[in-house]
Amino acid sequence: MQSSFNKAGVKEDVDISVDLGGLKLKNPVVVASGTFGYGLEYEDFLDISAIGAVIVKGTTLEPRSGNPSPRIAETPAGMLNAIGLENPGVDVFLKEYLPRLRDKGVTVIVNIAGNTVEEYARMAAKIEGNEGVAAIELNISCPNVKKGGLQFGTHPDTVKEVVEAVKKETSLPVLPKLSPNVTDVVEIAKAAQAGGADALSMINTLLGMAIDIKKKKPVLANIFGGLSGPAIKPVALRMIYQVYKEVDLPILGGGGIMSSEDAVEFILAGASAVSIGTGNFVNPRLALEVVEGIRNYLQEENIRSVRELTGMAVIK
Ligand SMILES: Cc1cc2nc3c(=O)[nH]c(=O)nc-3n(C[C@H](O)[C@H](O)[C@H](O)COP(=O)(O)O)c2cc1C
Repeated sequence: MQSSFNKAGVKEDVDISVDLGGLKLKNPVVVASGTFGYGLEYEDFLDISAIGAVIVKGTTLEPRSGNPSPRIAETPAGMLNAIGLENPGVDVFLKEYLPRLRDKGVTVIVNIAGNTVEEYARMAAKIEGNEGVAAIELNISCPNVKKGGLQFGTHPDTVKEVVEAVKKETSLPVLPKLSPNVTDVVEIAKAAQAGGADALSMINTLLGMAIDIKKKKPVLANIFGGLSGPAIKPVALRMIYQVYKEVDLPILGGGGIMSSEDAVEFILAGASAVSIGTGNFVNPRLALEVVEGIRNYLQEENIRSVRELTGMAVIK
């Protein structure tokens, strides 16, 4: 392994750029969909163009008003959300938000969700050719209305089908975002690869619920919600480790990352880059602090490039 100290014993800079199946990032830290708005809301706190990429909030073909309230609940070491993809729709995103992000030099990943395979494909076609989009992330934790509401991401056949349909419409790197609410995540990852995925994003939230004992009712109006935050970190690490061993695709890993030490764990487990979600609510500057923490770790460990770190803890 090369040293990151030069002959005079002075620390040399380390290389923290990464390539996720054609998606080139200046550093390996992105902010997760739905936890950072369109990025523009955070401009008072940090230079948003310094983040590896901003994954914008879940975008749909038509505008959605989301689920009724309450749609957020705090839990020990995490939170539940059932926002229900509130967003103004893909056309408004492309017309009003994308140009502003482009002007600021932000690397933008668009997270898309649909009711049918055709909707995903139509959105990919609309996004294609718009300057300023670096990649598409597919939220496949959505009900497939043509298959009785079964989530796309829980069945290998529908995962392959939706990835294939999107790939036909775009030349951008496509990252399906895997749901942890499955028995065998490796099988799902292989289906995404068979559909032509360029990289994998994992994991989305774990299905959960909370109950108000005074009202004797579920806390969330939607009853169930997605669990995120530190509580899910061990599950995310385990799934990334499993997929890294079995599937030859770069992984964007996340789930409960609250520090650069957490991020390094994800990279050692097989992630090429990491995403920060719930942590943004605790500390809006976390993504950039994690970038600095990773850089310091590499220097301390005499590792010249973050790419060397990926999968180092995986036992063959
Ligand atoms: C309030 C909230 C909204 C979210 N909205 C989306 C979304 O629109 N699309 C999506 O793919 N994931 C969404 N997620 C999931 C996050 O992007 C992330 O994958 C998940 O929360 C796990 O990471 P974390 O523990 O760092 O938050 C949302 C999460 C939260 C907490």
